[in-house]
Formats: sequence, structure tokens, C-alpha cells
Amino acid sequence: QPGTGDDEDEDRAGMSEGFDRLWAELQPLGRNRTTGGYRRFSWGEADADVRAWFTDAAAARGLTVETDRNGNLWAWWGDPGPDAVVTGSHLDSVPDGGAFDGPLGVVSALAAVDELKRRGVRPDRPFAVTVFVEEEGARFGVPCLGSRLLTGAITAERALGLTDADGVTWERAMEQAGHDPARIGADPDLLGRIGVFIELHVEQGTALIHTDSAVGVAGSVWPHGRWRMDFTGQGDHAGTTRLADRKDPMLPFAQTVLAARAAAKAHDAVATIGKVHVAPNGTNAIPSRVRTWLDARAPDEATLRAVVDHVDAAARSAAAAHDVFHARYEESYTPVVDLDAALRDRVASVIGTADRPVPVLPTGAGHDAGVLASSVPTAMVFVRNPTGISHAPQEFARPDDCHQGVTALADVLADLLAE
Ligand code: GLV
Ligand code: MN
Ligand code: MN
Ligand code: MN
Repeated sequence: QPGTGDDEDEDRAGMSEGFDRLWAELQPLGRNRTTGGYRRFSWGEADADVRAWFTDAAAARGLTVETDRNGNLWAWWGDPGPDAVVTGSHLDSVPDGGAFDGPLGVVSALAAVDELKRRGVRPDRPFAVTVFVEEEGARFGVPCLGSRLLTGAITAERALGLTDADGVTWERAMEQAGHDPARIGADPDLLGRIGVFIELHVEQGTALIHTDSAVGVAGSVWPHGRWRMDFTGQGDHAGTTRLADRKDPMLPFAQTVLAARAAAKAHDAVATIGKVHVAPNGTNAIPSRVRTWLDARAPDEATLRAVVDHVDAAARSAAAAHDVFHARYEESYTPVVDLDAALRDRVASVIGTADRPVPVLPTGAGHDAGVLASSVPTAMVFVRNPTGISHAPQEFARPDDCHQGVTALADVLADLLAE
């Protein structure tokens, strides 16, 4: 007897089990046993494992998996076609990242397919689950590279020449992973097929804790970027070189770290220096060069520019004071993104109720959804993270919240597919 409480409980148990099984399969892949974090870097071994996992899981659901010219994965339910409903996220991670950033959106998308089938939904529109490559930019420096290539936000020439820490180019890495790099670049045909894009993502802050909500929707994505700074001095002996004779790049670097913090504080923004390469990295040698990266984000672009200009000015004057050469290079920049308001309201009305409206959150994190938003109507669903921590092993979402996320996503997809 459909509609009885027992059946509903059973259905929910079916969805939860399906999600839990997918989650359990994916969890061990690319996990660092020492830190408990993930190291899933584009075109590496762990990446091949998670891509194979996705391909198998999608095929087991009767989806047809294709790799696009840029290496992104597309699992089509039925025939590919125009005005498609597309949902997905990414499977790569930052160094020692958490389990949820990216994978939660992919696993939830597959579990939502199961849920839609259970409900007897057969899509009237083309439908696909996607996995975007190099979302974190952890290996090649530019975040959301797969979606940027798809939309043409980055040129093929620039992407091909991006290098990892060992000097391996994107071109070579892609080739080694068995993909043809000669065809990468903007893909207007594929992009033109996307009618609407929905990305479910773990929340990377605490707003949903404070509003006591399992899920929320995104309002806007803060503008953000990455700037590489090179401080080049003179390598020398740590014991014999008088202080007055040194050209030590570590000193302006250190001052720049503090300047970034001060600039962010003064502008109600955020700025982070989380990566540094010291050459030659010897205890008893004055470094010859310090290469570092500034990650800065703000609610609006003028504020972001002000923060970066402030850091730049501080770096320049500190470098000059120590007779060190300073160079800055913008590696990536993503303008502010206001996600489609009509779609956001529609998603919010599907997920929320009149007496329990779903929170609308701005986010300081970058997403493929933010890149696609310039081309297609795009929305994001966030799932509560009880630690509030992200890009670290402590990132978390409770199983029950994950299951509510799948239900919410399935509700949204069913609504869009019925159009
Ligand atoms: C990616 O997750 C970013 O926002 O850095
Ligand atoms: Mn991330
Ligand atoms: Mn992410
Ligand atoms: Mn991201």
C-alpha cells in the first residue's frame, strides 16, 4: 500500500543504504593513512582510482559515461541532448583535504539517481551527472580548471603549459593518464547542452549550524584569486655572512605574511598564505628564493583589489628594504558570482517550507558552479558541516544530514526534470 508510513520508512532506508554504500566504496581511495586526509590530485594514481570508481558506479546505474575533451566525466541517463539537467561536483582534493569537499556532491548525485528511479521518475529532459577535473587547483595551480576549460574561461594554450611542483605540464600529465591533450579547450556544443546545473556541496563554514538547518542554498560566491609572489635574494652561508651583507628573501616574505593578515582584517576580507617553497631549504643557508602564494577573497571585487594592492605594496617595500627582488603574478582570478536568483528561489521553495524556509548563504569558497554560472542557470545546495572545518581531515557531515541532502537534491532534480 503506497503512502503508508512503513513504506516511506522503507524508501528512506533504501536511499540511505544506497548512499552509505557508495560512500563506503569511495572512502578508502586516495586516503593518506598518516594524516587521515585525502590526496587526490588530477591525473595521479588516486585520481585514476576515483575516476574508475565513478565510471563503474554510474555504469551500474545504467548511465552512459563519457569523458569530454577536457577530461571531465559525464554520466548520461538516457541520451545526451539539449536543455539537460546536470548535477555533480569534483573528486580531486587539496593536500590532506577532507572526505566531503567534492565527493559529497558526486555521491549524492548518484544516490539521487537511485532515489528518482525508486520514485518512478523517468526524465523528460536529458540528464547527466558530472565530475569536473582539477577543481581545487591543488596540482596545477588554477582552480576549477575543468569547468574553466569547458566554458573557455581559460585558454587551452595556458592550461597545457601549467606545471605541477615537479615541473610536469598539464599536457604531459593528461597524456600520461591516457587522455589526448590536443583537443582540450572551450566546448560550446557540450556547454550548450546544459540547461541547468545544480551542485550539492558540504558547507565550508558554520552558518547552517547557527540556523539549525541540515541544508541551505547558495546566494553568491565571493570573488577570489591566487597570486604567486617570488622573493629572490642571495643564497649564502648562515654562519659567515654578516647581517648587513645579507639579501635574505625570508624577511620580506615574513613581513608579507603579516601584511596579508592586517590587510584582510582592515577590509573585512580573508587572506591566506598557505603554501611556500623555500630554495634551497637548508638549515644553515640563507635562502636564495622564497616562492609563495597569496589566496585572497572578499565580499566584493573592489575590496578584494584593495586587499591585494595593500599586500603587494607591503611586499614591495619589504623586499626593497632587504635588497631582495620581488615579482608578483596573478595565477587565477574569479569575479563575484551572483547565482541565478530565479533558480535559487525555485530550489529554495522545493527544499524549504513556509514555516521552515531554507537559509540562503553567501560563500567564500570557489566552485565549478561559480564558473558555470556565467554560462548557464546554476544553483548550489549546501549540507551542514558540524565541525565547520574544511580543506582539512576534520571536515565532516553527519550521515543523517547527508541523507537529507540527497532527498533535497532528488526533490530539486525531480522538479526540474518534470519541466
Ligand atoms: C576551493 O575549494 C576553494 O575555494 O579554494
Ligand atoms: Mn575545496
Ligand atoms: Mn569543492
Ligand atoms: Mn572549491
